[in-house]
Amino acid sequence: ITAEGAVYFIFGATGDLARRKLFPALYSLYREGKLGERFAIVGLARRPRTAEQFRDDVYESIQEFCRYKPNEVQAWREFAERFTYHSLDIGNVDGFRELKATTEELEARYEIPGNRLFYLALAPELFGTVSRNLRDGGMLESGGWHRLVIEKPFGYDYPSAGSLNEEIRHVFREDEVFRIDHYLGKEMVQNIEVIRFANAFFEPLWNNNHIANVQITLAETVGVEERGAYYNKSGALRDMVQNHMLQMLTMIAMEPPSRLDPEDIRDEKVKVLRSLRGFSTPDEVRERVVRGQYTEGEQKGKPIKGYRNEDSVPADSATETFFAARLFVDNFRWAGVPFYVRTGKRLPVKSTEIVIEFKNVPNNVLFASKQQLQPNLLVIRVNPMEGIYIKFNAKKPGNDMTVQPVAMEFCQSCQVGINTPEAYERLIFDAGRGDSTYFTRWDELAAAWQLVDPIAAAWRESADDLTFYPGGAWGPQQAHGLLEEDGYFWWPVN
Ligand code: BG6
Repeated sequence: ITAEGAVYFIFGATGDLARRKLFPALYSLYREGKLGERFAIVGLARRPRTAEQFRDDVYESIQEFCRYKPNEVQAWREFAERFTYHSLDIGNVDGFRELKATTEELEARYEIPGNRLFYLALAPELFGTVSRNLRDGGMLESGGWHRLVIEKPFGYDYPSAGSLNEEIRHVFREDEVFRIDHYLGKEMVQNIEVIRFANAFFEPLWNNNHIANVQITLAETVGVEERGAYYNKSGALRDMVQNHMLQMLTMIAMEPPSRLDPEDIRDEKVKVLRSLRGFSTPDEVRERVVRGQYTEGEQKGKPIKGYRNEDSVPADSATETFFAARLFVDNFRWAGVPFYVRTGKRLPVKSTEIVIEFKNVPNNVLFASKQQLQPNLLVIRVNPMEGIYIKFNAKKPGNDMTVQPVAMEFCQSCQVGINTPEAYERLIFDAGRGDSTYFTRWDELAAAWQLVDPIAAAWRESADDLTFYPGGAWGPQQAHGLLEEDGYFWWPVN
């Protein structure tokens, strides 16, 4: 990653995120030569484990989740040799002192000049303690750089996010903190900038003169699985909207940055977040936001249970598993253009798509007298298919002047196949080389919470507006109403 190398510390090394995402990402980076020659990885968790047992776990995780398989014996052996496990009670500073000694040995063995990346795959309540103990245990005294990579949820609301940030900032500077939003690591989310700013045909139309509305859908088929306890406190608003949905919206809405430097890009994103029209009363929340919860239903012919029957979910839970809203970016470019966002669990498909719907051609007397023309669409397919397509009108072959919508598609996933790097791979690589472009800066996070908090507050007052949808359906009817009131509809998602 950097010519001089680094030690990567994975806190929470026996957890789910490490197993599914972090080990596979590190192995892919290794196989692609992106970790360089000088690196070591230290897995940390409370559970005692021998280095052998730990390597076996890592092997299995890679076997199951990585796009490179560990059956290339030599490569796996070399990689595994760099992996150590250290059992650590993160509440006890003495353990960090021992860790310091282990780290110095590794650094000496692999000639790593004190660069240390701390990835906290832990509950956020522990971020403060770990940061303090890293400092007090002497882990930040090495000569190189020190970086902290943390996962969401970053707080529960603006005040709690602020306190969490304070705790971390006692120890780490803002430019040393890398807050992950894995949607920013997705290929097509990063591609939005290129599509917008490297093409002559999109940017000139990218404003309220030409765009009728923007629709962002992040649909999932899964329910809450084993995460009922976490999810019931968080709901779709905190789990998806505060972070992934708003981040995608900012990428669509931001002004061109003056340079492609991380701070320039993030400055532009913050401006979008600050321009989002807030919710000043609970009535406004009801007018512009729909919340829903899945009940029993059916998916692919199989019955599924309702949210309130999921494990660790109370039978009277008012937590939303679906969220839809009409948002506005109140600035010059976007005045009057609705941004419709929706996300939910137990929807019919797993798909993330962004649809830009253009305004109709003015005064279309030529064709519209005979038939209704469809608007032009630009669709960015984020996940699981990656690509973009445009829909425009063309003549239907034949003698009549019949107009039909046709599509032109760039299917990235068809060309590159499954071999595009995973979001976590990209983000760990970026954190290792100190590029914070696709990480969330504190002021972005603060602005996102400030938008979300009044919604949560209105919901706390009364649950009357909670709507229900059968599992496997496209959310509650009210989510369609949001667009119908404005004369639009949700474009079908593939
Ligand atoms: C996570 C949420 O941040 O994103 C999960 O906590 C959600 O609830 C997941 O399932 C979706 O990510 P992806 O990459 O699978 O779309």
